[in-house]
Amino acid sequence: MPKARLAVLISGRGSNMAALLHASRLMADCPYEIMLVAANDPDAPGLALAAAEGIATFGHSHKGLTRAGFDAIIDAELDRHQISHVALAGYMRLLSPAFVEKWQGRCFNIHPSLLPAHKGLHVHEAVLANGESVSGCTVHLVTAELDGGPILGQARVAVLADDTPDSLAARILIAEHQLYPRIIARHIAADQAPLPRLRALALALPKAREKLSHGAPGFFVEGGKFFAYFSDNHHGSGISALLVATSGLEEQAMLIEQDPGLYYRPPYFGASGWIGIRLDTGDTDWEMVEGWLRRSWEVAAPKRLRRLVTGI
Ligand code: GRF
Repeated sequence: MPKARLAVLISGRGSNMAALLHASRLMADCPYEIMLVAANDPDAPGLALAAAEGIATFGHSHKGLTRAGFDAIIDAELDRHQISHVALAGYMRLLSPAFVEKWQGRCFNIHPSLLPAHKGLHVHEAVLANGESVSGCTVHLVTAELDGGPILGQARVAVLADDTPDSLAARILIAEHQLYPRIIARHIAADQAPLPRLRALALALPKAREKLSHGAPGFFVEGGKFFAYFSDNHHGSGISALLVATSGLEEQAMLIEQDPGLYYRPPYFGASGWIGIRLDTGDTDWEMVEGWLRRSWEVAAPKRLRRLVTGI
């Protein structure tokens, strides 16, 4: 599966950007790759850091430009690099509505508080002034509301009795560097997961319905039986697959012999001739998947409905 092409927008030192970069290089199967680091200050130290790591950079001052005008310049640069996702990392700019709208669902931010508490600036001062014993950081999707989008993950950091805003910020920053790469990776990986597409195909079949079965999404025909299950990392197997009915154990064995990288005998369901079809090979043939769903649907549908649909 091609990696998401991430751009990181910064304004200053870019330590979160560096954390995202090193995590992407260290993490096995990291689903994103940093393709661009851009700043609204050509002298942002983070730009030099990224350039030294071989990453494309873009620095452009926002001074004298309207918000929308500046964002359009950044956006054109994102398009030039075919960016798919954007991470704000210490980017000290409010975004224009058009930018937010365009990147909705694909633009992340990290904020050094446990949102929804302490939005905006001077967060650590406020935490200390309130005598709070715990603070932390939050990764969220960017929406039109400042620091207000859906929360994707948080890390808690204890406040010490003798903390100053700087000492607290420094400890929270350590947590930020751990949190941001993980949350972005998890979110993008889920985006790339096959369930939404599988679901759309399964539910397009006549009278198909969805229901959880032993914790896995299952698809059944109204008035009939289950015809497919989505198996995701069953018992930590690391496999995501579609389970469907074959004509029986003979066909099941034949398929596995033919293509053991694609087909496998799933635990429990395998005994009754069902087959596992891997959806994590990175090159899933969705027409083949659709064909299997249809076949399995025909087995599970009540006779009358099957006859109506297939004529047999
Ligand atoms: C971080 O604390 C981040 O949460 C906040 O700005 C700071 C940026 O630091 N939004 P850096 O540039 O990533 O080092």
